[in-house]
Amino acid sequence: MIKINKKPAALIYPVPAAMVSCGSTPDEFNIITIAWTGTINSVPPMCYVSIRKERHSYDIVKRNMEFVINYSTKDLVREADFCGRKSGREYNKFKEMSLTPLKGEKVNSVIIAESPINIECKVTEIKELGSHDMFLAEVVNIQVSEDYIDKSTSAIKMKHQDLMAYSHGKYIQLGDIIEQAGFSIKSKT
Ligand SMILES: Cc1cc2nc3c(=O)[nH]c(=O)nc-3n(C[C@H](O)[C@H](O)[C@H](O)COP(=O)(O)O)c2cc1C
Repeated sequence: MIKINKKPAALIYPVPAAMVSCGSTPDEFNIITIAWTGTINSVPPMCYVSIRKERHSYDIVKRNMEFVINYSTKDLVREADFCGRKSGREYNKFKEMSLTPLKGEKVNSVIIAESPINIECKVTEIKELGSHDMFLAEVVNIQVSEDYIDKSTSAIKMKHQDLMAYSHGKYIQLGDIIEQAGFSIKSKT
């Protein structure tokens, strides 16, 4: 395999294209699509979103110190793209995309009813990094659609075929399961 060196860039893909909702009153409700997001700790469960200061959502998240990560599905790809192209300064994105704002369970921030998984987060720290500020947050509640719950065990059952990711300028539908994690060390007897 011949490798070519390229200049440093943000090139860790695939990542989510999460619709992050914010705001605790209808006049400030907003949605921003975020690719720079991920898990950073298991106990307590913590995650981050990185937001440029110039985004309308930046001030809303900073003021409320809360946000909600709403899973994007293949059926919500148009909504996710729109929320990542237009600003809440000019558009009510809930109205434009016919999305339903509901109040979070453990946060005052809004959630997107149509998204199957809503991860409610409280900001613990804001780190200035350069182009973006990183909002570190603790996950305080998760709302999961019944469709994503195994009826017999009550465990979360991801519907991978319905989910989408973002990779190098493209939205990708997640596909088939290749293997169960841990399969490489399982005995074959
Ligand atoms: C797929 C995708 C991923 C994005 N990821 C980020 C991100 O991680 N951080 C960020 O600040 N902006 C990101 N953006 C840009 C914002 O979503 C976009 O500027 C949006 O219009 C800001 O909305 P607001 O002004 O209402 O906050 C992304 C856009 C798209 C389409």
